[in-house]
Amino acid sequence: MAQPRILILGAPGAGKGTQSAKITEEFNVEHVTTGDALRSNKEMDISEMDTEYDTPGEYMDQGELVPDEVVNAIVDEALSQAGGFVLDGYPRNLEQAEELEDMTDLDIVLMLDVSEEELVHRLTGRRMDPETGDIYHVEYNPPEDDEVEERLVQRDDDDEETVRERLGVYRENTEPVIEHYEEQGVLERVDGEQAPDEVWEAVKKTIEDAA
Ligand code: AP5
Repeated sequence: MAQPRILILGAPGAGKGTQSAKITEEFNVEHVTTGDALRSNKEMDISEMDTEYDTPGEYMDQGELVPDEVVNAIVDEALSQAGGFVLDGYPRNLEQAEELEDMTDLDIVLMLDVSEEELVHRLTGRRMDPETGDIYHVEYNPPEDDEVEERLVQRDDDDEETVRERLGVYRENTEPVIEHYEEQGVLERVDGEQAPDEVWEAVKKTIEDAA
């Protein structure tokens, strides 16, 4: 498998972004992430689409899903330009899973399993370097450089109330997607509650074994 087409699934905070960065480097594939794409377009005017809110940011800041029509177009465009990829943040409901089937085939579907208590702890402690986009955690993975530490920011949707809302949205909309891939017999589960390097060893091995 020269350039694998990988889907990475998991709850908010499961480590999809952290592991995707490593997959991108190791397997020379593109990171296609709806969360980052939408954060770069938070103020985009989507009022013509007859949506409840006028911009993606209004959905995101409340922990709700951005309408399918907006997200499907972003993913379709990104995948049409990618060879191999790791897709992170999509599909988040069964309608999106159906759309994805029309867009591309997948070689591997990975699922990072993490308990809810740990997810809340990871998300409320997450910080990002606005200059590099690198992800840190105040306790698990603080930056070594004081200058970097001073400029870290918290994502708008990482306060505890919004985190709990996002986890509720995940349970309701995205767990059926996990069941869908499980029923198809293609889901590869990885214990995402281990230390990041141990998760990475398991993720890497799963991808290599599927090749
Ligand atoms: P998105 O950006 O996709 O957020 P998410 O799915 O909620 O996932 P996160 O990015 O929060 O977590 P992650 O799994 O990447 O964890 P990370 O590696 O950072 O979506 C945001 C919003 O956009 C949605 O709420 C929605 O509004 C909208 N949206 C996006 N896609 C959409 C779609 N398809 N349809 C509709 N709307 C959509 O790790 C988290 C923290 O834990 C970090 O601090 C990290 O350092 C730490 N960490 C990671 N791994 C470990 C480990 N093994 N041990 C200890 N700490 C760890």
